[in-house]
Amino acid sequence: HNYAVIMAGGVGSRFWPVSTAENPKQFQDILGCGQTLIQATFTRLQKVVPKEHIFILTNKIYEATVLEQLPVVTPANIVCEPAMRNTAPCILLAALKIWKKDAEAKMLVAPSDHWIPQEDKFIHDIELAFNEIEQSDDLVTFGIPPTSPNTGYGYIQYDDSAHSNIFHVKRFTEKPNLENAKRFLQEGDYLWNSGIFAWRTDTILQSFQQFLPEMYQLFLNGFSFLNTCEEFSFLEENFHKAQDISIDFGIIEKASTVKVIPATFSWNDLGTWCSIQGELPQDAASNTVVNSRFIPEHASGNIIRTQAGKVVYIDGLKDYMILEEDNVLVIVPKQKEQEIKVIRQTVLEKFGAS
Ligand code: GDD
Ligand code: MG
Repeated sequence: HNYAVIMAGGVGSRFWPVSTAENPKQFQDILGCGQTLIQATFTRLQKVVPKEHIFILTNKIYEATVLEQLPVVTPANIVCEPAMRNTAPCILLAALKIWKKDAEAKMLVAPSDHWIPQEDKFIHDIELAFNEIEQSDDLVTFGIPPTSPNTGYGYIQYDDSAHSNIFHVKRFTEKPNLENAKRFLQEGDYLWNSGIFAWRTDTILQSFQQFLPEMYQLFLNGFSFLNTCEEFSFLEENFHKAQDISIDFGIIEKASTVKVIPATFSWNDLGTWCSIQGELPQDAASNTVVNSRFIPEHASGNIIRTQAGKVVYIDGLKDYMILEEDNVLVIVPKQKEQEIKVIRQTVLEKFGAS
């Protein structure tokens, strides 16, 4: 009864200009490990559920890329969304499809763009979650010890009094402002949300019914079309009507039955440029260089990522990001990494570049 869903429809806009709407980061080998991020995710999940039970949900514009990068997946397991509506509609659709096949199904939900090198520990933690949800109606998430007041994550306040490896969640706060993120870090009983979840399909469907009833009804109306050749035409007509909301804001923040397993595996969500710095080698002055041929002169702490082989000469620059892809060159202080989304939007509006 174990299934997995890979969410692969995001644009990864904080990784712009390398990650673009046409070629988002999950389809790229960001760290140069020989596999794209979605290929690595599929390989990892295949170790916890049979590959026939792995579904990939993506936008229809990425269908060809998914088929090409994961040729072992049967096309029926690749589900194409005709509009971008964030992760709640994606998860609801997947849950209904899986529940229709198997009313006792347990479902692991995983992003397609994470870096999880310790696969044995990952497998151990996932098995723990599958065992837990077998007996309980919990929504389980995997927590990561926070190391900075990063405002790009969900924060999980958990009851650390129990002697266990799975804890009750007191409060979940998705993407807090910096002031609150700093306070959470000081308080100590918080974990970051990894964005990986496990639950039974019947449990998550009940949560949708409770917290996002309109979305639930919208998809339930097409239940008879799911897993048939009429599925996509139903989605084309209806998917765009779903509220654009993440699972974190839409369900996890509101639900009272959330549990957290502090992850024993190491994790990096490759969420921003600075977050990849720790995974890549640095030079003596802490510059991280990807693709470029770099001549540093009084340059330290920078991230330099250009098109292959470009020669970069820098004199007198500290803690900046220099990012080049196609016809876009971005030079911004590292501390503004969370603003990359806004910068991208400004450039798009002015010049239409992606
Ligand atoms: N199918 C599909 N459709 N997938 C999507 C969509 C969509 O419309 N939107 C996003 N995704 C995919 C992304 O490709 C990614 O793999 C995953 O869903 C999560 O989306 P992100 O946009 O990367 O979310 P986030 O990083 O801002 O926040 C989430 O992850 C953090 C950890 O990385 C939240 O769960 C946070 O609470 C969490 O801390
Ligand atoms: Mg993310």
